[in-house]
Amino acid sequence: MKILAVSDDESKALWDYYTPDRVKDVDVIVSCGDLRAEYLEFLVTMTGLPVLYVPGNHDKQYAERPPEGCINIDGKVVTIDGIRFVGFGGSRKYSNGKYMYTEDQMRTKICKAKPKIIKNGGVDILVTHAACRDFGDMEDYAHRGFDCFNEFLERVHPSVMLHGHVHASYRHRNFKRENIHPTGTKVINCYERYIFDFDPAEKNRIKKKELSKNLRGAFWTVYPQNIKD
Ligand SMILES: [Fe+2]
Repeated sequence: MKILAVSDDESKALWDYYTPDRVKDVDVIVSCGDLRAEYLEFLVTMTGLPVLYVPGNHDKQYAERPPEGCINIDGKVVTIDGIRFVGFGGSRKYSNGKYMYTEDQMRTKICKAKPKIIKNGGVDILVTHAACRDFGDMEDYAHRGFDCFNEFLERVHPSVMLHGHVHASYRHRNFKRENIHPTGTKVINCYERYIFDFDPAEKNRIKKKELSKNLRGAFWTVYPQNIKD
């Protein structure tokens, strides 16, 4: 499966100068957030491909006007051509913005999705806006990643994690397009646009029994507080 991932800055090559060859052989488009709804609508209209998305911290307009024709995977498991995606949008809560969360609130979002993850026998691709804490994130509070994403990778073992929020244009030393997390998951920063191949043979990195065991216990119960959707 060929995946076009987009994030944070609208790509001129895909919008102003779009030509069909720019999405040649692409099977699915995934947005990691902070992109105008009109841009995602343009992509879904021009390519005819499924466009999955999570909101970024700057996407408060999605609540009033979500990108039409695109699939919101925030807190949901969605399967495309047998590949299972789960999404957790938003960033750290540095103000009262809509898609901003404390560590506990993000953990609660993950906990709410657990039954869907177990029902699907795991997920292959984790899609977030923010990065993992201490893995491709930055030190300022707004760009700090989430510890619970590291824990998610340890317990669920998706093959790939896609995120944005840390722009290549920041020229930060932690910016890396592709990096292998200590858990073995390939982590991709999808700033602007990035095309990669996902090999279906990389699916099912975890057995169902191990997944159920890993998702029981502390990960489920330590942070029982609820947040409003
Ligand atoms: Fe962001």
